[in-house]
Amino acid sequence: MHKILIGTNWKMYKSIAEAKEYTTALKAFFENFSTDIELFIIPSFTSLHPVQEIVKDSTILLGAQNMHWQDEGAYTGEISPVHLKEIGVQIIELGHSERREYFNETDEILYKKVKAALKHGLKPLICIGETREEKELFLTKEVLATQLKTIFQKIEVHDAQQLWIAYEPRWAIGEGGKVAEPKYIEEVHECLRDLLIEILGEVGKTVPILFGGSVNSKNAIPYLKCKHVSGLFIGRAAWDLDSFKDILLQVKKFVEHRKKVRSCS
Ligand code: PGA
Repeated sequence: MHKILIGTNWKMYKSIAEAKEYTTALKAFFENFSTDIELFIIPSFTSLHPVQEIVKDSTILLGAQNMHWQDEGAYTGEISPVHLKEIGVQIIELGHSERREYFNETDEILYKKVKAALKHGLKPLICIGETREEKELFLTKEVLATQLKTIFQKIEVHDAQQLWIAYEPRWAIGEGGKVAEPKYIEEVHECLRDLLIEILGEVGKTVPILFGGSVNSKNAIPYLKCKHVSGLFIGRAAWDLDSFKDILLQVKKFVEHRKKVRSCS
């Protein structure tokens, strides 16, 4: 059994001072909290180093929101995987819908970044998801299959084990996003699991698939109860620490209950 993965991407929010205050309090809260939850935070670039200084002696994993695929070069404004590794970053979030929509990040570019992340021992967290139009045209499965295949068909199966997938339907993300029905999320996760098995064989059974998109303290557990949902990737509802703590407490209770039920059956 994988741990339940719970993480938050802060996007372009939080100053260094805010990031440090939040992380210090989260670290204290999460100490000895649960060995069944893998917690990760993904601050903006300027906060990565100060936040790393805080989380380095904790179990909280640190991620970055993007990176270039080259180690170095004349790429003004880009971030090298080597430099991220140097400050202790462990996870690289790639292909978030906002990167795809505003910065023309394609599956081909994503593939190069995944390869580079793996080369440097950084864990790629790959975001995939369909747009509202694609969903309305019943193209969800095709879109997700293309997104997964472009990346997974070209990487070694043993490398595939390092990847985390976040299914984030683009119509469910952010302010104005529609809250997805857990039933729909379960269906799509089932389809993603089948696709991963089709592409990777046995390994496809173990690649974690998180769900993200307007997750909050009311719907977190209904989503986690869905088959093949391995964790939650949260934006707005985790930026306020009290709200994130509320979600984490619910997840802890949920995992403890699930363990008890499994040990009885
Ligand atoms: P949201 O963001 O939880 O605020 O919808 C999710 C995301 O962008 O990953």
